[in-house]
Amino acid sequence: AGAVSLPVATSALSSAEAPSGAGSAHKFPEGFLWGSATASYQVEGAVHADGRGVSIWDTFSHTPGKTFDGDTGDVADDDYRRYKEDVQLMKALGLHTCRFSIAWPRIFPEGTGAPNPKGLDHYNRVVDELLANGIQPYATLYHWDLPQALEDKGGWQSRATSEAFAHYAGYVTAHLSDRVRHFMTTNEISTFTELGYGTGTHAPGLKLSRAGLAQVCHNAVLGQGLAVQAIRASARPGTKVGLAENIIAVTPVVNTPEHIQAAAIAMREENAPYMNVVQTGEYTDAYLKRLGADAPKFTPEDLKTISSKLDFAGINIYQPTYVRASDSPEGYAIVPPPASYPHMYSPWITIGPEALYWAPKLATQIWNIPELYITENGASSADVMTPEGTVLDTDRVMYLRNYLTQLHRGVSEGVPVKGYFLWSLLDNYEWADGYEKRFGIHYVDFKTQKRTPKLSAAFYKEVIARNALG
Ligand code: NOJ
Repeated sequence: AGAVSLPVATSALSSAEAPSGAGSAHKFPEGFLWGSATASYQVEGAVHADGRGVSIWDTFSHTPGKTFDGDTGDVADDDYRRYKEDVQLMKALGLHTCRFSIAWPRIFPEGTGAPNPKGLDHYNRVVDELLANGIQPYATLYHWDLPQALEDKGGWQSRATSEAFAHYAGYVTAHLSDRVRHFMTTNEISTFTELGYGTGTHAPGLKLSRAGLAQVCHNAVLGQGLAVQAIRASARPGTKVGLAENIIAVTPVVNTPEHIQAAAIAMREENAPYMNVVQTGEYTDAYLKRLGADAPKFTPEDLKTISSKLDFAGINIYQPTYVRASDSPEGYAIVPPPASYPHMYSPWITIGPEALYWAPKLATQIWNIPELYITENGASSADVMTPEGTVLDTDRVMYLRNYLTQLHRGVSEGVPVKGYFLWSLLDNYEWADGYEKRFGIHYVDFKTQKRTPKLSAAFYKEVIARNALG
């Protein structure tokens, strides 16, 4: 018998054919930017190339017992040498933009002092390659690879690091802003401070006191503000400056006015020493009260610097933090996920697509943000390469489809989200989790450096081509 042919349409109905009111188009606004995101230490490798200095992640990852299997970023995706190939992967997806980070120790091997021109040359070439392929570069200036020389003098415990960061930011933007029009100062201040100087699970691996950590957080937001000022002074006029922060993505447990109100209060309080102080120039009373004598030492001038005006904000969203109304003095309560709550391969990525509706909506309203980007969203999956040579990451596709549907819901209500950067283009070095947690939409065989598009790459390509969800 021949093949059975089933009466199934193989292409989606066009909107003209769709029953009226079906609302199946899920179109994004014209000009919506679709991108991918990566970070220097996670993809570049080539840690000794062209005069790069040592970063705290080199030191930390080479310290026994700190990372999964002792994995380091020494080679990673070898993107430092293979960047042209990686730009071709972006082009094949139809990406409009890409977010990448610049390694501070390549530019100033000692953190301050004499710059290393070969480091800058590399990023000049990367930027030119992106532009030649029609991809707009969005550059992050600090994605956690602090020069070790600065850590040796106290790292983010010292204000000197905040000042050195501003100097480096001004230098880079003076040289790249003729072609890079969007810069993000820092990536995830809350993560690199809390994990690096609080729990000690990330570089530099310190476990400071509560007061010590609060001062680190203060120095980091201060560095962010000083960098904004340095960029304004050095970069070409019209250069847009923002940051990428993993705000706590408060999400009302259910969609009722009292829970939504509770989530709005929580948005400020839960992000008090990070996005909230950056946006408002104030530490909340509740934050200062909670810390008491452990509160950071600061001047009114610091607060002005920290809240230097940004052109846009970026938020990295992976998982929801459910919030409910409460009679407590705070006016809200966080609802921790029950043990049965579903998550992706990384246990911390609990699946709550509506976080990508509520976080942008509440953030832009509360902080009056005119232009927002999702600077990261994505997930790890227990990917396996099939004998046929493909990776069928249906769980990542499920995750992305659901989150993007909620993003679309917000955008269609007028939430000013201008673009979305998927984390990540490639499987890469997932910090303390090493190479075991894969986040890419391209599979990387770390022995051969071969890149293979996963099912999720085909999904994303289709979303970009249609500027819509199917
Ligand atoms: C946060 C960080 O910015 C990025 O470096 C990391 O790999 C992803 N999210 C996934 O954890």
